[in-house]
Amino acid sequence: MQRTIVLCGFMGCGKSTVGRVLARRLGCDFIDMDSYIEARAGRIIPQIFSEDGEEGFRELEHRAARELAAKENTVVASGGGALLFARNVQAFSPCAVVFLDVPFEVCYRRIRDSSRPLVRQNSREAMLALYERRRPLYLRAASLRVAGELAPEAAADAVLSGLGLR
Ligand code: S3P
Repeated sequence: MQRTIVLCGFMGCGKSTVGRVLARRLGCDFIDMDSYIEARAGRIIPQIFSEDGEEGFRELEHRAARELAAKENTVVASGGGALLFARNVQAFSPCAVVFLDVPFEVCYRRIRDSSRPLVRQNSREAMLALYERRRPLYLRAASLRVAGELAPEAAADAVLSGLGLR
């Protein structure tokens, strides 16, 4: 059995893109945590934020973390906020948590026109401050850091090597 791999990092760092490549390379399942939450809730994330607030979203996210941590042979792309909470770090403790460490400017270019509630609610400066506050927490949550702006195949290679899977 292959330990579940959980990718973490700031919005726009490439968790879903790299996660899909990794899952294909390992021949295992891929789950995007945000899509999983949306399917369970029957609502999209901006709707959950506007109806239940961020706090309500974090509850659904925690439930998803517990359910996804129990999966086998799966690569999970976590939501950018999930691994900032001790209870989710705890839930994912049986998994291999990998931080995709991508510079703010690269992430922000990818997300600035998206419908993500935190992007819509915050200025670029506030997002940069959020990035800087969060980065040490991703580092602490992960057992492996994959650096920079590698192409998805190269990032997947770095994850596989770092985890001793090739
Ligand atoms: C969030 C990141 C989003 C999503 C939600 C909150 C965050 O996921 O879970 O909008 O707090 O960083 P992505 O990192 O997949 O965009």
